[in-house]
Amino acid sequence: MKHFLDIHTTAAPDLRQMIDSAHAMKAARNGRPRGTPDDDQPLAGQMVALIFEKPSTRTRVSFDVGVRQLGGQTMVLSGKEMQLGHGETIADTARVLSRYVDLIMIRTFEEATLQEMAEHATVPVINGLTNRTHPCQIMADVMTYEEHRGPIAGKKVVWSGDGNNVCASFLHAAGQFGFDFTFTGPEPLDPEREWLDFARSKGSDVQVVRDPAQAVAGADLVVADTWVSMHDPQSARERRHNQLRGYQVNEALMALAKPDALFMHCLPAHRDDEVTSAVMDGPHSVVFDEAENRLHAQKAVLRWCLGV
Ligand code: CP
Ligand code: NVA
Repeated sequence: MKHFLDIHTTAAPDLRQMIDSAHAMKAARNGRPRGTPDDDQPLAGQMVALIFEKPSTRTRVSFDVGVRQLGGQTMVLSGKEMQLGHGETIADTARVLSRYVDLIMIRTFEEATLQEMAEHATVPVINGLTNRTHPCQIMADVMTYEEHRGPIAGKKVVWSGDGNNVCASFLHAAGQFGFDFTFTGPEPLDPEREWLDFARSKGSDVQVVRDPAQAVAGADLVVADTWVSMHDPQSARERRHNQLRGYQVNEALMALAKPDALFMHCLPAHRDDEVTSAVMDGPHSVVFDEAENRLHAQKAVLRWCLGV
Protein backbone atom coordinates (compact mmCIF):
# COMPACT_ATOMS: atom_id res chain seq x y z
CA MET A 1 0.00 0.00 0.00
CA LYS A 2 1.49 3.32 -1.03
CA HIS A 3 0.05 6.12 1.08
CA PHE A 4 1.29 9.68 0.52
CA LEU A 5 1.23 10.95 4.08
CA ASP A 6 4.32 13.14 4.29
CA ILE A 7 7.43 14.17 2.39
CA HIS A 8 9.85 13.00 5.08
CA THR A 9 8.29 9.51 5.14
CA THR A 10 8.35 9.06 1.35
CA ALA A 11 11.58 7.82 -0.26
CA ALA A 12 13.61 10.58 -1.95
CA PRO A 13 13.86 8.74 -5.32
CA ASP A 14 10.08 8.33 -5.35
CA LEU A 15 9.62 12.06 -4.67
CA ARG A 16 11.99 12.88 -7.54
CA GLN A 17 10.14 10.52 -9.86
CA MET A 18 6.84 12.21 -8.96
CA ILE A 19 8.23 15.70 -9.72
CA ASP A 20 9.62 14.50 -13.07
CA SER A 21 6.31 12.84 -13.91
CA ALA A 22 4.45 16.07 -12.98
CA HIS A 23 6.62 18.11 -15.37
CA ALA A 24 6.04 15.55 -18.14
CA MET A 25 2.26 15.50 -17.63
CA LYS A 26 2.13 19.31 -17.62
CA ALA A 27 4.12 19.46 -20.86
CA ALA A 28 1.94 16.78 -22.45
CA ARG A 29 -1.21 18.82 -21.93
CA ASN A 30 0.38 21.52 -24.06
CA GLY A 31 -2.32 24.17 -23.72
CA ARG A 32 -5.28 21.88 -24.29
CA PRO A 33 -8.59 22.88 -22.62
CA ARG A 34 -8.56 22.01 -18.93
CA GLY A 35 -11.78 20.04 -19.13
CA THR A 36 -10.39 17.59 -21.67
CA PRO A 37 -8.94 14.24 -20.56
CA ASP A 38 -5.24 13.34 -20.85
CA ASP A 39 -4.19 10.97 -23.63
CA ASP A 40 -3.29 8.50 -20.88
CA GLN A 41 -6.27 7.41 -18.77
CA PRO A 42 -4.57 5.44 -15.96
CA LEU A 43 -7.40 6.12 -13.47
CA ALA A 44 -10.15 4.86 -15.79
CA GLY A 45 -12.71 3.00 -13.70
CA GLN A 46 -11.28 4.29 -10.40
CA MET A 47 -13.22 6.28 -7.81
CA VAL A 48 -11.49 8.77 -5.50
CA ALA A 49 -13.03 10.18 -2.29
CA LEU A 50 -11.95 13.71 -1.37
CA ILE A 51 -12.77 14.42 2.28
CA PHE A 52 -12.60 17.94 3.69
CA GLU A 53 -12.87 18.74 7.37
CA LYS A 54 -11.56 22.26 6.67
CA PRO A 55 -12.25 24.75 3.88
CA SER A 56 -10.35 24.51 0.58
CA THR A 57 -10.29 26.05 -2.87
CA ARG A 58 -7.06 24.82 -4.50
CA THR A 59 -6.82 21.33 -2.99
CA ARG A 60 -10.43 20.57 -3.68
CA VAL A 61 -10.53 21.78 -7.27
CA SER A 62 -7.06 20.60 -8.30
CA PHE A 63 -7.64 17.05 -7.02
CA ASP A 64 -11.10 16.91 -8.58
CA VAL A 65 -9.86 18.14 -11.97
CA GLY A 66 -6.68 16.04 -11.78
CA VAL A 67 -8.51 12.77 -11.16
CA ARG A 68 -10.89 13.48 -14.04
CA GLN A 69 -8.06 14.38 -16.43
CA LEU A 70 -6.56 10.97 -15.59
CA GLY A 71 -9.86 9.27 -16.41
CA GLY A 72 -11.09 8.66 -12.85
CA GLN A 73 -14.13 9.85 -10.96
CA THR A 74 -14.40 11.75 -7.68
CA MET A 75 -16.76 12.35 -4.83
CA VAL A 76 -16.17 15.38 -2.63
CA LEU A 77 -17.27 14.85 0.96
CA SER A 78 -17.51 17.32 3.80
CA GLY A 79 -16.48 15.84 7.14
CA LYS A 80 -19.41 17.58 8.84
CA GLU A 81 -21.92 15.89 6.57
CA MET A 82 -20.43 12.42 7.12
CA GLN A 83 -21.02 10.16 10.12
CA LEU A 84 -17.34 10.86 10.80
CA GLY A 85 -18.45 14.22 12.16
CA HIS A 86 -21.08 12.54 14.34
CA GLY A 87 -19.07 10.00 16.26
CA GLU A 88 -18.27 7.18 13.83
CA THR A 89 -14.63 6.28 14.33
CA ILE A 90 -11.96 7.10 11.78
CA ALA A 91 -11.03 3.41 11.66
CA ASP A 92 -14.57 2.32 10.79
CA THR A 93 -14.90 5.11 8.24
CA ALA A 94 -11.64 3.95 6.64
CA ARG A 95 -12.81 0.32 6.51
CA VAL A 96 -16.15 1.27 4.95
CA LEU A 97 -14.79 3.73 2.38
CA SER A 98 -12.21 1.15 1.31
CA ARG A 99 -15.10 -1.10 0.20
CA TYR A 100 -16.35 1.62 -2.18
CA VAL A 101 -13.47 3.73 -3.44
CA ASP A 102 -9.95 3.18 -4.78
CA LEU A 103 -8.21 6.06 -3.00
CA ILE A 104 -8.95 8.50 -0.18
CA MET A 105 -7.63 12.06 0.05
CA ILE A 106 -8.31 13.73 3.38
CA ARG A 107 -7.83 17.26 4.74
CA THR A 108 -8.21 17.16 8.49
CA PHE A 109 -7.13 18.70 11.79
CA GLU A 110 -5.13 16.20 13.84
CA GLU A 111 -2.30 14.24 12.32
CA ALA A 112 -3.60 11.25 14.31
CA THR A 113 -6.77 11.27 12.19
CA LEU A 114 -4.74 10.93 9.01
CA GLN A 115 -2.60 8.19 10.53
CA GLU A 116 -5.63 6.26 11.73
CA MET A 117 -7.26 6.56 8.31
CA ALA A 118 -4.10 5.21 6.66
CA GLU A 119 -3.73 2.41 9.20
CA HIS A 120 -7.24 1.06 8.64
CA ALA A 121 -7.84 1.84 4.96
CA THR A 122 -7.10 -0.91 2.45
CA VAL A 123 -6.67 1.70 -0.32
CA PRO A 124 -4.06 4.48 -0.57
CA VAL A 125 -4.56 7.62 1.55
CA ILE A 126 -3.23 11.07 0.61
CA ASN A 127 -2.63 13.90 3.10
CA GLY A 128 -4.46 17.00 1.85
CA LEU A 129 -3.24 19.06 4.86
CA THR A 130 -3.28 18.56 8.60
CA ASN A 131 -2.48 20.97 11.43
CA ARG A 132 1.11 19.75 11.18
CA THR A 133 1.95 19.23 7.49
CA HIS A 134 0.91 19.99 3.89
CA PRO A 135 3.01 17.73 1.63
CA CYS A 136 1.02 18.10 -1.62
CA GLN A 137 1.61 21.84 -1.49
CA ILE A 138 5.35 21.48 -1.27
CA MET A 139 5.49 18.95 -4.12
CA ALA A 140 3.91 21.70 -6.25
CA ASP A 141 6.35 24.27 -4.84
CA VAL A 142 9.41 22.17 -5.69
CA MET A 143 8.00 21.62 -9.18
CA THR A 144 7.38 25.36 -9.58
CA TYR A 145 10.87 26.34 -8.46
CA GLU A 146 12.44 23.86 -10.88
CA GLU A 147 10.18 24.94 -13.74
CA HIS A 148 11.49 28.50 -13.42
CA ARG A 149 15.05 28.08 -12.21
CA GLY A 150 16.22 24.46 -12.64
CA PRO A 151 17.29 22.10 -9.87
CA ILE A 152 16.40 23.21 -6.34
CA ALA A 153 19.25 21.20 -4.78
CA GLY A 154 21.77 23.49 -3.10
CA LYS A 155 19.50 26.58 -3.28
CA LYS A 156 18.63 28.79 -0.32
CA VAL A 157 14.94 28.92 0.63
CA VAL A 158 13.83 31.49 3.23
CA TRP A 159 10.55 31.15 5.09
CA SER A 160 9.29 34.36 6.71
CA GLY A 161 6.52 34.22 9.32
CA ASP A 162 4.84 31.42 11.27
CA GLY A 163 6.65 28.06 11.45
CA ASN A 164 3.41 26.27 10.56
CA ASN A 165 2.26 23.14 8.67
CA VAL A 166 3.39 24.41 5.27
CA CYS A 167 6.77 25.41 6.73
CA ALA A 168 7.07 21.89 8.19
CA SER A 169 6.62 20.25 4.79
CA PHE A 170 9.17 22.69 3.34
CA LEU A 171 11.67 21.51 5.95
CA HIS A 172 10.94 17.90 4.99
CA ALA A 173 11.50 18.78 1.34
CA ALA A 174 14.77 20.56 2.19
CA GLY A 175 16.06 17.27 3.57
CA GLN A 176 14.69 15.11 0.76
CA PHE A 177 15.55 17.37 -2.21
CA GLY A 178 18.81 18.71 -0.76
CA PHE A 179 18.26 22.46 -0.43
CA ASP A 180 19.09 24.85 2.40
CA PHE A 181 16.41 26.41 4.55
CA THR A 182 16.35 29.54 6.70
CA PHE A 183 13.42 30.26 8.98
CA THR A 184 12.85 33.84 10.06
CA GLY A 185 10.12 34.64 12.58
CA PRO A 186 9.61 35.23 16.30
CA GLU A 187 10.79 32.48 18.65
CA PRO A 188 7.33 31.39 19.90
CA LEU A 189 6.42 30.56 16.29
CA ASP A 190 9.55 28.56 15.45
CA PRO A 191 9.02 25.35 13.45
CA GLU A 192 8.96 22.15 15.48
CA ARG A 193 12.40 21.01 16.60
CA GLU A 194 11.75 17.56 15.08
CA TRP A 195 11.38 19.06 11.59
CA LEU A 196 14.47 21.26 11.89
CA ASP A 197 16.41 18.20 13.02
CA PHE A 198 15.06 16.09 10.16
CA ALA A 199 16.36 18.52 7.51
CA ARG A 200 19.71 18.85 9.29
CA SER A 201 20.04 15.08 9.56
CA LYS A 202 19.83 14.89 5.75
CA GLY A 203 22.59 17.46 5.35
CA SER A 204 20.63 20.68 4.75
CA ASP A 205 22.04 23.90 6.12
CA VAL A 206 19.11 24.93 8.36
CA GLN A 207 19.22 28.33 10.05
CA VAL A 208 16.87 30.16 12.40
CA VAL A 209 17.46 33.90 12.08
CA ARG A 210 15.38 36.50 13.95
CA ASP A 211 16.21 39.44 11.69
CA PRO A 212 14.33 39.04 8.36
CA ALA A 213 16.70 41.36 6.49
CA GLN A 214 19.66 39.22 7.51
CA ALA A 215 17.74 36.02 6.76
CA VAL A 216 16.85 36.83 3.13
CA ALA A 217 20.39 37.79 2.10
CA GLY A 218 21.37 35.46 -0.74
CA ALA A 219 17.91 33.81 -0.93
CA ASP A 220 16.94 32.01 -4.13
CA LEU A 221 13.35 31.67 -2.97
CA VAL A 222 11.35 33.62 -0.36
CA VAL A 223 8.16 32.06 1.00
CA ALA A 224 5.30 33.44 3.09
CA ASP A 225 2.04 31.98 4.39
CA THR A 226 -0.91 33.22 6.40
CA TRP A 227 -0.15 34.44 9.92
CA VAL A 228 -3.23 32.63 11.29
CA SER A 229 -3.87 29.10 10.02
CA MET A 230 -7.24 27.36 9.87
CA HIS A 231 -6.52 25.38 13.02
CA ASP A 232 -5.36 28.42 15.01
CA PRO A 233 -7.88 30.00 17.38
CA GLN A 234 -9.24 33.28 16.05
CA SER A 235 -8.44 34.72 19.49
CA ALA A 236 -4.75 34.43 18.50
CA ARG A 237 -5.24 36.83 15.61
CA GLU A 238 -4.27 40.12 17.18
CA ARG A 239 -1.28 38.66 19.01
CA ARG A 240 -0.07 36.96 15.82
CA HIS A 241 -0.30 40.18 13.87
CA ASN A 242 1.73 41.99 16.51
CA GLN A 243 4.33 39.20 16.59
CA LEU A 244 4.63 38.92 12.81
CA ARG A 245 4.24 42.47 11.48
CA GLY A 246 8.01 42.81 11.07
CA TYR A 247 8.12 39.65 8.93
CA GLN A 248 5.91 40.91 6.11
CA VAL A 249 7.37 40.15 2.68
CA ASN A 250 7.41 43.51 0.89
CA GLU A 251 9.49 45.01 -1.91
CA ALA A 252 12.13 46.26 0.52
CA LEU A 253 12.64 42.74 1.89
CA MET A 254 12.63 41.11 -1.56
CA ALA A 255 15.28 43.60 -2.70
CA LEU A 256 17.67 42.01 -0.19
CA ALA A 257 17.32 38.53 -1.74
CA LYS A 258 19.18 37.52 -4.92
CA PRO A 259 18.09 39.63 -7.92
CA ASP A 260 16.49 36.57 -9.56
CA ALA A 261 14.87 35.26 -6.36
CA LEU A 262 11.36 33.86 -6.63
CA PHE A 263 8.47 34.54 -4.25
CA MET A 264 5.97 31.83 -3.32
CA HIS A 265 2.84 31.63 -1.18
CA CYS A 266 0.59 28.56 -1.03
CA LEU A 267 -2.49 30.85 -0.99
CA PRO A 268 -4.95 31.99 0.19
CA ALA A 269 -2.96 35.18 0.81
CA HIS A 270 -3.87 38.06 3.06
CA ARG A 271 -2.61 40.95 1.01
CA ASP A 272 -0.88 43.61 3.06
CA ASP A 273 -0.52 41.29 6.05
CA GLU A 274 2.10 38.60 5.30
CA VAL A 275 2.78 39.88 1.77
CA THR A 276 2.16 43.13 -0.06
CA SER A 277 0.27 43.27 -3.36
CA ALA A 278 3.41 44.77 -4.91
CA VAL A 279 5.25 41.49 -4.22
CA MET A 280 2.28 39.16 -4.94
CA ASP A 281 1.76 40.79 -8.34
CA GLY A 282 5.41 41.73 -8.93
CA PRO A 283 8.23 40.26 -11.02
CA HIS A 284 9.49 37.77 -8.41
CA SER A 285 6.11 36.17 -7.76
CA VAL A 286 5.16 32.75 -9.15
CA VAL A 287 2.15 32.23 -6.88
CA PHE A 288 -0.31 31.42 -9.65
CA ASP A 289 2.04 28.96 -11.36
CA GLU A 290 2.40 27.43 -7.92
CA ALA A 291 -1.38 27.12 -7.62
CA GLU A 292 -1.62 25.59 -11.10
CA ASN A 293 1.11 23.10 -10.31
CA ARG A 294 -0.96 21.63 -7.49
CA LEU A 295 -2.90 19.99 -10.31
CA HIS A 296 0.12 18.49 -12.08
CA ALA A 297 2.04 17.49 -8.94
CA GLN A 298 -1.01 15.78 -7.40
CA LYS A 299 -1.68 13.86 -10.60
CA ALA A 300 1.83 12.45 -10.16
CA VAL A 301 1.09 11.66 -6.50
CA LEU A 302 -2.16 9.90 -7.45
CA ARG A 303 -0.38 7.77 -10.08
CA TRP A 304 2.41 6.88 -7.67
CA CYS A 305 -0.08 5.83 -4.98
CA LEU A 306 -2.08 3.68 -7.38
CA GLY A 307 0.97 2.37 -9.23
CA VAL A 308 -0.42 3.39 -12.62
N1 CP B 1 -2.91 26.10 -0.71
C1 CP B 1 -4.01 25.38 -0.39
O1 CP B 1 -3.95 24.25 0.08
O2 CP B 1 -5.16 26.04 -0.67
P1 CP B 1 -6.64 25.58 -0.26
O3 CP B 1 -6.77 25.76 1.22
O4 CP B 1 -7.53 26.52 -1.05
O5 CP B 1 -6.84 24.15 -0.66
N1 NVA C 1 -1.14 27.32 6.94
C1 NVA C 1 -2.39 27.41 6.25
C2 NVA C 1 -2.30 26.80 4.89
C3 NVA C 1 -3.55 26.89 4.06
C4 NVA C 1 -3.46 26.22 2.74
C5 NVA C 1 -3.48 26.75 7.07
O1 NVA C 1 -3.26 25.65 7.59
O2 NVA C 1 -4.54 27.35 7.23
